[in-house]
Amino acid sequence: MMRLDLDSPIFVTGHRGLVGSSIVRHLETLGFSRILTAGRDVLDLRDAWSVSKWFADNRPRYVIHAAGKVGGIWANQSQQADFLHDNTLLHTSVLRAAMEAEVEKLLYLGSSCIYPRDCPQPIKEEYLLQGPLERTNYGYAIAKISGLLACQAYRDQYGCHFITAMPTNLYGPNDNFHTEYSHVLPALIRRFHEARQAGENRVVIWGSGTPRREFLHVDDLARGCLHLLEHYDEPEPVNLGCGQDVTIRQLAEILREQIHPECELEFDRSKPDGTPQKLLDVTRAHKLGWKAEIELPEGIARTYQWFCQSKWNHVDVESVVMDAD
Ligand SMILES: NC(=O)c1ccc[n+]([C@@H]2O[C@H](COP(=O)([O-])OP(=O)(O)OC[C@H]3O[C@@H](n4cnc5c(N)ncnc54)[C@H](OP(=O)(O)O)[C@@H]3O)[C@@H](O)[C@H]2O)c1
Repeated sequence: MMRLDLDSPIFVTGHRGLVGSSIVRHLETLGFSRILTAGRDVLDLRDAWSVSKWFADNRPRYVIHAAGKVGGIWANQSQQADFLHDNTLLHTSVLRAAMEAEVEKLLYLGSSCIYPRDCPQPIKEEYLLQGPLERTNYGYAIAKISGLLACQAYRDQYGCHFITAMPTNLYGPNDNFHTEYSHVLPALIRRFHEARQAGENRVVIWGSGTPRREFLHVDDLARGCLHLLEHYDEPEPVNLGCGQDVTIRQLAEILREQIHPECELEFDRSKPDGTPQKLLDVTRAHKLGWKAEIELPEGIARTYQWFCQSKWNHVDVESVVMDAD
């Protein structure tokens, strides 16, 4: 175990995103005095030369690589090449620059979406690469898997202390509530909210409502990332999830209760369900001393509160595309 020095520069990529913004908040709470950030306008992380120069100029001691091109099933399926391209370039440039600049510890974010499609449940870390990938997001998955293997390669060849966390589905402040490109939980928050505002007494949900999914509040994830940065230094990834899943129907019922109690739920069974269950085995993370703390109803209440005060509450109503990922 290493103690993180609160006065050393720590670089968080993607600091305006769901994960990056939560990590920055957490670092501030912990008292880190030199949190480095660089938005896309300043530094396009796909540009290897600029990234190397930025690292040489700023010399971060620790890095949390939370930038990525991220989206729900619709975005992933329709832009396979772009998801592959951007995510591959992002980690290629960041890991290389971190090695060259002799970064002491780096945490890379994988994703539960990159495990094989038909994994036994709950999903253990060792199931990675043990079966065919889900077709709807193979561009994203290949890029993220190559990032994870790249961390291991930098460890093997250069002795870099690069580690990988594998988060489950995340939600929280600064999530993407776009009607077409968001994940199921934010998409449903927006759908329920807009139904209430429009006086509609019915919310349509894609599929049968039976698929089981796990949701982790991003503030729990941020705490987990810092915990791993401090306590973990092995090549194998570590799953970060809450250890419990809910059906999409149960999720919708929580949302209905909190946002629009009068409405009826309608399940559109003509739409696909996706894989029946996706739940991470979090034994390894628990053994390392991290556990999720924010219960789903409480996390949703906090997220909805944030949503109501955000720009997403003031955008035009469009048709909602939802999926279970
Ligand atoms: N969300 C989830 O449920 C989930 C689950 C598992 C794993 N993860 C992983 O967690 C990481 C972060 O995801 P997120 O949900 O926080 O995504 P997000 O909210 O979309 O944020 C991604 C961030 O990356 C930045 N970025 C993207 N391309 C960039 C580029 N070329 N140059 C500089 N910055 C760039 C974005 O900047 P702009 O704001 O300028 O676009 C944004 O700040 C990803 O690696 C993802 O695979 C997420």
